[in-house]
Amino acid sequence: MDATKVLIVGGGGAIAGQLIRQYQLWSQSTGQPLELYVTSRQRPPAVHSGITWLQVDFRNPESIAAAGEELSKRATVLDHWVCCAGYLHGDFGLPEKALKSLQAAKLSGDFAVNSVGPLLMFQVCLGLLKRAPLAKAVFLSAQVGSIEDNRSGGWYGYRMSKAALNMGVRCAAIECARWRRPPAIVAVHPGTTVSGLSEPFTAHRPDAPQTAEQCAAKLFSRIQALSVEESGTFQRLDGSNIPW
Ligand SMILES: NC(=O)c1ccc[n+]([C@@H]2O[C@H](COP(=O)([O-])OP(=O)(O)OC[C@H]3O[C@@H](n4cnc5c(N)ncnc54)[C@H](OP(=O)(O)O)[C@@H]3O)[C@@H](O)[C@H]2O)c1
Repeated sequence: MDATKVLIVGGGGAIAGQLIRQYQLWSQSTGQPLELYVTSRQRPPAVHSGITWLQVDFRNPESIAAAGEELSKRATVLDHWVCCAGYLHGDFGLPEKALKSLQAAKLSGDFAVNSVGPLLMFQVCLGLLKRAPLAKAVFLSAQVGSIEDNRSGGWYGYRMSKAALNMGVRCAAIECARWRRPPAIVAVHPGTTVSGLSEPFTAHRPDAPQTAEQCAAKLFSRIQALSVEESGTFQRLDGSNIPW
């Protein structure tokens, strides 16, 4: 039986870590062989065995090119490609509440991690994805990147860079639909989830956010169910569409 070959980008994150677990549990319970490739800025955590780790930092485009070369040497094909990387707050600054807080370096960093990096990472995997019978590519985006849905403003860098990601996903879906075996390429909003990224902003919410484990279980099912007809859409984890 051929192994399912999967790349998860940004493997050190909360949702990514649980998604890795979902793939491993699925492989164990079904007997389906799995070849798992994971990128991270950090060195590989010891707990994950049976994974090929690649070091990638979206703020360093050379690391993306190097990972692409390494992947081409090690893998022959990629069936699933999932980007779980994203930046909302941290060493490079907080989400901006007002125009007066905008800073060029912070905004460029948001675009590097949330829009440019994911698209460049996808670019270096094109050859491997083209060889899959039905390649599936999922870019974790965010509903706050929807222009139509934006009624409260703020979070300039995050909103702008996720909106740019969405446009990149839409362009890629249109371009890659011309492949001999067309892939399914979508932007997915994972829903508010307990993680380092959401932590400062969920403390005062009346409703408890889903755990990363709950999110990853739904994300895994969504990826399994994803069809070519859905390519080029912006979705929630239940498959319903979000306006761009
Ligand atoms: N949590 C939520 O409520 C929520 C809501 C909407 C959308 N999202 C989106 O869901 C995705 C996963 O977020 P999460 O909640 O799991 O957050 P998280 O635990 O903070 O994970 C963030 C991820 O971004 C990666 N990352 C950060 N800076 C990077 C850089 N310079 N280069 C490459 N990768 C970088 C990290 O990878 P490494 O540490 O391995 O390098 C990690 O996988 C993100 O795209 C986020 O925007 C989350």
